[in-house]
Amino acid sequence: MQEKILEILYENKGKYIFTNEITSLLNINEEELKENVATLEEYGYVFNSSPDLGLRLVESPNLLLPCEIKRGLKTDYIGQNIHYFSEIDSTNNVAKKLAEEGAEEGTIIIAETQTRGRGRRGKQWISPSGGVWMSIILRPQIPPSEAPQLTLMTGVAAAETIKNKFGLDVGIKWPNDILIGSRKVCGILTEANAKFSTLDYVVVGIGIDANVNTENFPSDVQKSATSLKKELNKDIKGPELVQEFLKIFEDTYNEFKEGGFPEILGEWRRMSKTIGSYVEVRKQLGKIVRGEAVGITNEGALILELDNGNLRKVISGECLHIKK
Ligand code: BTN
Repeated sequence: MQEKILEILYENKGKYIFTNEITSLLNINEEELKENVATLEEYGYVFNSSPDLGLRLVESPNLLLPCEIKRGLKTDYIGQNIHYFSEIDSTNNVAKKLAEEGAEEGTIIIAETQTRGRGRRGKQWISPSGGVWMSIILRPQIPPSEAPQLTLMTGVAAAETIKNKFGLDVGIKWPNDILIGSRKVCGILTEANAKFSTLDYVVVGIGIDANVNTENFPSDVQKSATSLKKELNKDIKGPELVQEFLKIFEDTYNEFKEGGFPEILGEWRRMSKTIGSYVEVRKQLGKIVRGEAVGITNEGALILELDNGNLRKVISGECLHIKK
């Protein structure tokens, strides 16, 4: 209902509209309208109301509320069902629970802050307000071994969104960090659940440091991280970023489902800042491999040319771009 009230007021932005016009359009009574307006005010919406003129919307909060995301969302199924939290432990945790309960493909979970945001390799993901912390539930009909392709696909969609929208120097660091220059602005954590030899669901978690003040990050993270706000010197509109990302994500995912992964991987290569760089990959148990990154396999493994000229495939690890 709040969505519908906002829709009417947005159409008349700046102008008053009689409350009896709103109530009759929505088939509700004055009391219901008042209650819904009060809830919206709690979120930070500002209205002017006058007994003679009616109601008008004067200010909207920069929050990731479902009604703001749905307005102008051009997707068919990704993000059409939104679970919103002002604070949650981790959107990936909620997504996994909802997926277990049968949530449909394309359902998204989005939060203003996470108290236990999770990064790759068991790391903590700092998730203050201002960021986009979101998980998408997918149910692709692919073997579990192909699930890592979805991470690469998401990286391409995220990098394209930020590049198209803001024209920044965006690139991808293997396997799935989105960089602006050499600093990370977005990370992706994909978690798959398989039953027997087929995938039951995949949760794709995306964290974008949109309007985040990176000065509040611990000093080691500050050195390697950035935010869109920092790069652009202004706040960006969170819901618009989410809408554009979801549209590009849906288009890319549709292409993926139609067998277009080779093209998507081609795009990954073009956007990659890792291919052509000399890198150090830190693997488990303190093992380190160094070499020039020369390619990526269909499974998402990085191909390194070692100093002795041999080629080596690296499946996972933390990748650092270093000088030889
Ligand atoms: C990484 O680069 O280490 C991956 C970071 C992924 C963070 C996102 S934020 C939304 C979702 N919920 C989580 O707990 N993690 C992912």
